Amino acid sequence: MKTAIEKRLQEAGQEHALAFWKELDDSARHRFLRQLESLDLDLINKLWTTRHASADWRSLAARAEPPPAIRLDRAQQAATSLAAQKKGEAALRAGEIGMLLVAGGQGTRLGFAHPKGMFRLGPVSNRSLFQILLEQLLAARRRFDAPIPLYVMTSPATHEETAAYLAEHDYFGLPAADVQLFCQGVMPAVAIATGKLLLAGKDALFLSPDCHGGMLSAFESRGCLNDLQQRGVRQLYYCQIDNPLVCCCEPELLGHHLLADSEMTTQAVARTNATERVGNIVSVDGRLHVIEYSDLPQDAAQARDETGLRLWAGNIAVHVFSTDFLVRAAGDSESLPFHLAHKATPHLDANGMLQTPEAPNAIKFERFIFDLLPQAANGLVVEVAKAERFAPVKNAPGSPADTAAHSQAAICAQHRAWLRAAGAKVDDQTAVEINPLFAIDAAEVAENIAPGTVISQPTYFR
Ligand code: UD1
Repeated sequence: MKTAIEKRLQEAGQEHALAFWKELDDSARHRFLRQLESLDLDLINKLWTTRHASADWRSLAARAEPPPAIRLDRAQQAATSLAAQKKGEAALRAGEIGMLLVAGGQGTRLGFAHPKGMFRLGPVSNRSLFQILLEQLLAARRRFDAPIPLYVMTSPATHEETAAYLAEHDYFGLPAADVQLFCQGVMPAVAIATGKLLLAGKDALFLSPDCHGGMLSAFESRGCLNDLQQRGVRQLYYCQIDNPLVCCCEPELLGHHLLADSEMTTQAVARTNATERVGNIVSVDGRLHVIEYSDLPQDAAQARDETGLRLWAGNIAVHVFSTDFLVRAAGDSESLPFHLAHKATPHLDANGMLQTPEAPNAIKFERFIFDLLPQAANGLVVEVAKAERFAPVKNAPGSPADTAAHSQAAICAQHRAWLRAAGAKVDDQTAVEINPLFAIDAAEVAENIAPGTVISQPTYFR
């Protein structure tokens, strides 16, 4: 078996990967061979050879228009929202909706050494991000009496711990049969200068997750796409683990998607400033695209018109896909392009010594799920209010945005607003948190709270 791999590596100019073979024991050899066998060496070489041909963001940004969208301030809003809500609710009741949560990330940027979903965020309850989102899904299942299967994408670094954590907590009330975890794939890193594979050890390549675009191939190869079809799920609601304000399976968004006969619909918030670190949803030549904040030139990011920032639509990574579209996209290995990231990457040198460069020395290859947008028929953008739907936890305490404290403040502010709308009295300093099993929205809070109720200390409604 080694000879076959050796030959393939030689043909690809990557034979240095076996430089320390003689020093390995049997189990290390076995493990390493399995890793090497899974490589698509032609693809890796092609990606390196064509590394300068990546997307020309400046030219794309120059042609970028604000996307056509269902905006919050539209005149006919109430009637359209109601029709969409009814349509979405009917699809939920009919069992046509599934949910996908991408949770492959670690809490590194947060300074948390576990899967990000285990991070405790509940401002009063101390619930983890997983608990917050899974209980919300449970509430939606109960409200619509629908099975809503959940697929959770993990990564090699988070899979086992996530699986053990969710099982230990009985999937926070969801039936185990309706929860499936699947692990995303990895890609090797290569040296920027030579395209050579980098070794993390004598018996291992340097591998990193292929980002959330890896969901498409992993979802198919781990049998989830087939499971979705077997269950008769027609639309998949996609969101990220890092946003506790996400509304799991929001009927109105689903309804807009269905009424427009869209293959992919995405929820957006209006960007409030030019430096906000969100992707930009734009329209180029009549197709929707996301241009990452790091790729959007300053002049395009700052351009304003009479309504505010011209490219207003911030990506909050909440999408709805039709199952048929996912099947079609998964059948085309080139449906998602690779993005190249230059990173400082520790690796073994030719003498087997560990090098830890400070400057970028390696290219990592990633795929982004939102790159499916341009291929979707009738792709649609629906705006939501940031205060109601987007408060991600990304950064360590003290950072200017997207910390746990910012996110907790947003949860409390939303829940205070629901309580006040129900006639309760609560001041701005009092932390409040509402479990979705108590009330999923303002209307349900009004059913469960007596007008005039005074809340003067931190309270968790459950
Ligand atoms: C991402 C989006 C950005 C959007 C923002 C909203 C990209 C490239 N950009 O930015 O357009 O405005 O979210 O919050 O995605 N994940 C995996 N596997 C991976 C990498 C990430 O499952 O290999 C998951 C993480 O668990 C997380 C999500 O994907 O839930 C987003 O990843 P993150 O790196 O935090 O994205 P951002 O750069 O913040």
